[in-house]
Amino acid sequence: MIPREIIDEIVFRNDIEQVIGSYVNLRRAGSNYQGLCPFHSEKTPSFTVFAATKSFHCFGCGAGGDVISFIMRAENLTYIEAVHLLAERAGIDIPEDNSSQERETVSKKRILELNLAAAKFFRECLFDKNIGGEAMEYLAGKRQLNMATIKHFGLGYSPNDFTALTRKMRSLGFTDEELIAAFLAKRSQKSGKLFDLYRNRVIFPIIDTVGNIVAFGGRVMDGSEPKYLNTSDTPAFKKSRHLFALNYARKFAEQEMILCEGYMDVIALHEAGFENAVATLGTAITPDQARIFAKYTKKVIVCYDADRAGQMATSKAMRYLADAGVDCRIIKISGAKDPDEYVKKFGADSFRRVLGESRSGFDYRLEKILGEYNITLADEKIKAAEKICQMISDIPSSVERDICAQKAASALGLSFDSLKSDIARIRNRKLRDFKNKESRDAKLSIKNIGDRVNTDAAKHITASKSEEILLALMMIYDEYRQAAVRGAHGLSADDFSTAFGRRVFEVICELESSDGGYSRSMLGLYFNVDEVSRLEKIELERRQLSKNDNEVFAACIAKMKEEKQSVKDDGDEQLKYIRELFLKNKEQK
Ligand code: CTP
Ligand code: MN
Repeated sequence: MIPREIIDEIVFRNDIEQVIGSYVNLRRAGSNYQGLCPFHSEKTPSFTVFAATKSFHCFGCGAGGDVISFIMRAENLTYIEAVHLLAERAGIDIPEDNSSQERETVSKKRILELNLAAAKFFRECLFDKNIGGEAMEYLAGKRQLNMATIKHFGLGYSPNDFTALTRKMRSLGFTDEELIAAFLAKRSQKSGKLFDLYRNRVIFPIIDTVGNIVAFGGRVMDGSEPKYLNTSDTPAFKKSRHLFALNYARKFAEQEMILCEGYMDVIALHEAGFENAVATLGTAITPDQARIFAKYTKKVIVCYDADRAGQMATSKAMRYLADAGVDCRIIKISGAKDPDEYVKKFGADSFRRVLGESRSGFDYRLEKILGEYNITLADEKIKAAEKICQMISDIPSSVERDICAQKAASALGLSFDSLKSDIARIRNRKLRDFKNKESRDAKLSIKNIGDRVNTDAAKHITASKSEEILLALMMIYDEYRQAAVRGAHGLSADDFSTAFGRRVFEVICELESSDGGYSRSMLGLYFNVDEVSRLEKIELERRQLSKNDNEVFAACIAKMKEEKQSVKDDGDEQLKYIRELFLKNKEQK
């Protein structure tokens, strides 16, 4: 366990506005700061950093906490990892800890060290004529890559041998568990022996923006299957949160980036001078990846393969990128199956021209819809028009809607005015549906139904509210923590109806009674990021209406005891819950 004083020091020396400011563009708003939430897609800022409490809260998605939980979320780290990162940032030394208790089986750090050593080994194999001759011929000959490009991307070769890597890594002091955790080796079911996963493949290291080798892709050199082998998620790597070549592309990304499908596309484009190209890692683009783009650039040009799969994936990419607030444009290449083949066949200048002719998402989809219907027939034209109006109705800007309607009208041979009124009709209906859904959601959330953090809140509506207020008071003020530890008003863990409330109560009491005392910064050690966000939220709500705290504290305990008692009385919690809902509804009428 990291000593409490050191945690405090780390939190103190990592100014929350500065840390968050390096991820989010923050603007001053009174004594606080606001910006676009990095944890969900939004266009108006609802993400707030509170200077006084050194905390953050997003009023949109509910994420919240202190500087440590921010880093846990933003970097996808565990509590301990986040604390180490912040310690490093502030130049604080954390004393070496030898109690193995909280060490994960294989740490991220070890996997990164192993990956680095493995990448070095693969590279040496590629450059060794006796071992990697064929692989070099494949990359430099068949795929026409320059030696400079091969070195720039750190490409390698995994020998045609079941234990080459395993033997080498063991000799460097890596353990079998580490090799397995890094997805570099596997244990044979039959013999129980370790064998290399990457064999006879050219290797593409995947490097994060800090320069860590986080994963590998390996391609066969003939037509055998699977064509690619990729690192599964490991403690050091989450596929859906990385982009291949982002470590280079981010430096050329300010104006625009190119998104393509494959490793080879990216490498060929970089070699041809398009160093702003990246690819996802063998999967369709995820919302997380779309938000990575939003962090680095204003505009993304999607350049997927010309085949059907590539074109289907294009629509999805467009949607996610638009949701993340990135201007998305599309190019469709012809005469070649993918960008790699295109630049090799037609040259960089030709590809640059194609980039210049990129179309907006609207033009692309308009053309696609027009291709699906025969608009010389009246009823097909109506269907096409309906589909196009649907699409236009989703565009937030009214100017943009008009421009698109204009284009659609001339393409369909219909009047602008009739399309415009259809679009307005659809928009109104969608707005109405949205409002209805919103009020339904709000009603549900009042009843705590669907609460994933406090899963039994719905069964104990009144008590869970009291529990929250009580816990908020305990988080804010020493005196209530001390009162709780003392058992004031007869309060104990047994008074809690919800398991979550009880757990929070026990953790706060435990921390309060420990040597260092309670510190909000320690909560991340006991709760996951969603739970921390919830605690942040109830604390925030309490701070906003802090009044008569003593009476409130006592009243909460009374209410909680009452709930416990009545549950005991009728013995059937479900029944009580239904009755309560019924009474609430009657009250409202
Ligand atoms: N991919 C994968 N597993 C496969 C096939 C593809 O993970 N069996 C991923 C790889 O990340 C690959 C991308 O999907 O880079 C695109 O696939 P594809 O177009 O088939 O490969 P290219 O990278 O274009 O490779 P090449 O030009 O060498 O065929
Ligand atoms: Mn290809």
